[in-house]
Amino acid sequence: MPDVWADVSALDSAMQDRLAGVLEDRGADAQQRVLRETFLAEIAFEMDARVLDVGCGTGVLTRRLAGRPGVASVVGVDSAPTLVERARELAAGLENVAFEVADARALPFGDEEFDVVVFDSTLSHVPGPDAALAEAFRVLRPGGRLGVFDGDYATATVALGDHDPLQRCVDAMMAASVTDRRLVRRLPALVRACGFDDLSFSSHGFAEISGGGYMLSVVDRGVDVLRSRGEIGEDVASALEAEARRRVAAGTFFGHIAYASLTAHKPARAAIV
Ligand SMILES: C[S@@+](CC[C@H](N)C(=O)[O-])C[C@H]1O[C@@H](n2cnc3c(N)ncnc32)[C@H](O)[C@@H]1O
Repeated sequence: MPDVWADVSALDSAMQDRLAGVLEDRGADAQQRVLRETFLAEIAFEMDARVLDVGCGTGVLTRRLAGRPGVASVVGVDSAPTLVERARELAAGLENVAFEVADARALPFGDEEFDVVVFDSTLSHVPGPDAALAEAFRVLRPGGRLGVFDGDYATATVALGDHDPLQRCVDAMMAASVTDRRLVRRLPALVRACGFDDLSFSSHGFAEISGGGYMLSVVDRGVDVLRSRGEIGEDVASALEAEARRRVAAGTFFGHIAYASLTAHKPARAAIV
């Protein structure tokens, strides 16, 4: 099953609405907010920075960037028109924010237009992330900064034992929702190959011990994937959903994903002597 995020516009409108809700719910999660705060703190925003948020979805990070000290303007781009429309609605009133429909691999901007380019949970969904990184390099000014935040989604787990059936749901969800679950492991090499230097890479753990939040939604989406493929029937689907909620009620639910952040510079132009 292909990654749903790779072509959101191909999905029916109910699914597009659901995914928009997933992004906003994740964006509102306190722990996810702290992770993004740590990521943004790793990027040195100079005064009057022009920032590009690639694969902005509903604009969770874009709105946050708009209010950040030093940021003059933010443009969010995404290949999904419905998400861009939602992003515009949610950012209404923010004067330094604009959104455009665009493919990360063919950005509609001139060379060296931005001081900072960020990708939040985008590159692992893009077939051809090297092309997206090359475009980021092109639109950054010399000395400009790249920031990437993404999940090391192969680490996503809710397993309490070796043969935990809920883990099958997480695995099914990740297979249907991420193009390259190990992209962050190849990211430093990809970024260097584009010409960036001064790389810094950090790992961030996201753990959920009470359940009911993002990781429960991951289990539920995995159940839906297995049900829609006919791999499980309604009884098993209901039982899996009930088991996840039993763990939440019993206080035994556990979920974890490792995320990673990377920052790098486009080299400053060499002085002409
Ligand atoms: C998991 S969502 C992350 C959205 C947002 N950055 C966030 O963290 O809330 C991945 C986003 O990447 C977008 N996307 C996928 N492929 C893309 C491409 N080739 N060009 C631009 N955006 C793309 C999807 O439409 C989706 O909004």
